[in-house]
Amino acid sequence: MPAEVSEGAVHPREVVRLEKVVRQYIVGSAVVRALAGVDLVIHEGEFVAIMGPSGSGKSTLMHILGCLDRPTSGHYILDGVEVERLSDNQLAVIRNQKVGFVFQEFNLLPRETILANVELPMMYAGIPRRERARRARQLLEEMGLGKRLAHRPPELSGGERQRVAIARALANAPAVILADEPTGNLDTNTGAEILRIFEELHRSGRTIVVVTHDPNVARHASRVIRLVDGQIVADEGGAAA
Ligand SMILES: Nc1ncnc2c1ncn2[C@@H]1O[C@H](COP(=O)(O)OP(=O)(O)OP(=O)(O)O)[C@@H](O)[C@H]1O
Ligand SMILES: [Mg+2]
Repeated sequence: MPAEVSEGAVHPREVVRLEKVVRQYIVGSAVVRALAGVDLVIHEGEFVAIMGPSGSGKSTLMHILGCLDRPTSGHYILDGVEVERLSDNQLAVIRNQKVGFVFQEFNLLPRETILANVELPMMYAGIPRRERARRARQLLEEMGLGKRLAHRPPELSGGERQRVAIARALANAPAVILADEPTGNLDTNTGAEILRIFEELHRSGRTIVVVTHDPNVARHASRVIRLVDGQIVADEGGAAA
């Protein structure tokens, strides 16, 4: 792939570009500005932590990054795709192809085996049965769960469930992995184990955005963004864009 060269520096490709993104909610007669004009560029391979007080807009931002929600105004370009031009169906396809989610509460299907849970996004993507089973098995083996393939999520510990969720997030080789408080429901040691996995993913070149209250998590990130009242008030550690 040809590298884009400017001013002597090599810039990896832009995975996320937000321009003047506003997300407001109308509640009765009040207008809540959950995001009040966010400009943000994230390049391939960055590990970004998003921090900020409760209600500052972190989850709202993640929902927009993950195409679960749309801006009220402004532009969002995800891996070269202008999200506002897409129909809801096209948006679902882009979400499936380009975004891997890891949630605080895991969001796995409790009655399905972990193998089936990891296969699911690949099923939606139309990947043939044998290929998706092979890939799901491989991802779960990489997460240290190769001996648990036939288990169901309720039979696993919190850390194991989160590793299943990470395997599922990786299934379609997404452009970006989004995690909202991925260690929020885990004890310190288990949380540290999950963090090591994110570090490993970062080292292997993945693009990761994590919302966290935990300074420990943020210390592992290559860039820390602080949100207050729906606006970015600090942005540290990233390569100058
Ligand atoms: N569906 C909604 N309707 C109305 N207001 C909303 C809605 N969702 C979020 N908000 C408001 O938008 C603001 C940002 O919410 P958001 O959930 O993004 O915060 P957060 O930073 O994720 O907080 P926390 O750390 O508590 O998870 C808050 O003031 C919240 O009350
Ligand atoms: Mg939140």
